[in-house]
Amino acid sequence: MTYRHQIVLGPAQETLLIPLYGRAVETLKRNPMAIDRRAVEIVEAIGYDFAKFDGDRSLAGSVLRGLIFDHWVAAFLRAHPGGTVVEIGAGLNTRFERLDNGICHWVELDLPDSMDLRKKLFEETDRRSMIAASIVDDTWAARVREHPSPYFFVAEAVLIYLTEADTRRAVGQIKDSFPGTTLAFDTWGEWILRNQRRRDQRRRDPLRKMSAKLEWACNDPREIESWYPGITLTASHTLATPPRTVRTALPLRMRALLPVMGVLPQTKAYRLNLFTLGSNTRKAEQ
Ligand SMILES: C[S@@+](CC[C@H](N)C(=O)[O-])C[C@H]1O[C@@H](n2cnc3c(N)ncnc32)[C@H](O)[C@@H]1O
Repeated sequence: MTYRHQIVLGPAQETLLIPLYGRAVETLKRNPMAIDRRAVEIVEAIGYDFAKFDGDRSLAGSVLRGLIFDHWVAAFLRAHPGGTVVEIGAGLNTRFERLDNGICHWVELDLPDSMDLRKKLFEETDRRSMIAASIVDDTWAARVREHPSPYFFVAEAVLIYLTEADTRRAVGQIKDSFPGTTLAFDTWGEWILRNQRRRDQRRRDPLRKMSAKLEWACNDPREIESWYPGITLTASHTLATPPRTVRTALPLRMRALLPVMGVLPQTKAYRLNLFTLGSNTRKAEQ
């Protein structure tokens, strides 16, 4: 079979294929958590051995993770319909396709090779810009400012591939350039990093089939409040304790699984977090 797009990606960049495939596989289930026909089309258009991920439970986990981030972005857009969502490490995410309200703005930022691929599959418009850069660079903020405030930054499964020093630098840069903004990102605890190194325990993990490495551990996202003055953690969830509106929209089979997932050490060690980077804080929906 001839594929339209061959994949040439660095190690951390290649991981963008996992959530893409997760959304495609979920879409084809009988009673899916989410439907993403675009992800199905993209998987069909890419020359890559996706079948090696088949059977991995973490594919469904990546879909649930995306729904929780969507919940926060949708809440921001309800409060600020003309604001700008900045998607750090956008990969081949279809969040704009899922949540666009017709007037909001969107900036998608990713490393050059990931962005090259993204630009072959998605279109830039007046309201949607794509930036090829690392979040650690200091070049992208001016491009973001071309879009209207307020801003909501989301980094889904991205900052874990940076070192802790670079993650701090990226968070500090966002805070200094966009004081008072909101940033959603996920954190992985030590348990997960320890087990990344133990092959036998990683049998079911798609990351085992790639060379990307998780770089830093965070057991308690409240620690991030101490990185700079003015950072406040306003919400934090595990996949087993999603926000109520996400939970109630899940298919029954998935809701029934949550308590079982909740006792697993890997579920306890992985958290999705919402921070305000400034002094104006408000509790998000728990
Ligand atoms: C697991 S994928 C997640 C992709 C997307 N957020 C999603 O949920 O579908 C990790 C992404 O982080 C990007 N990434 C890694 N390091 C980055 C950096 N320093 N700056 C920007 N993006 C980065 C990769 O290129 C890749 O697209």
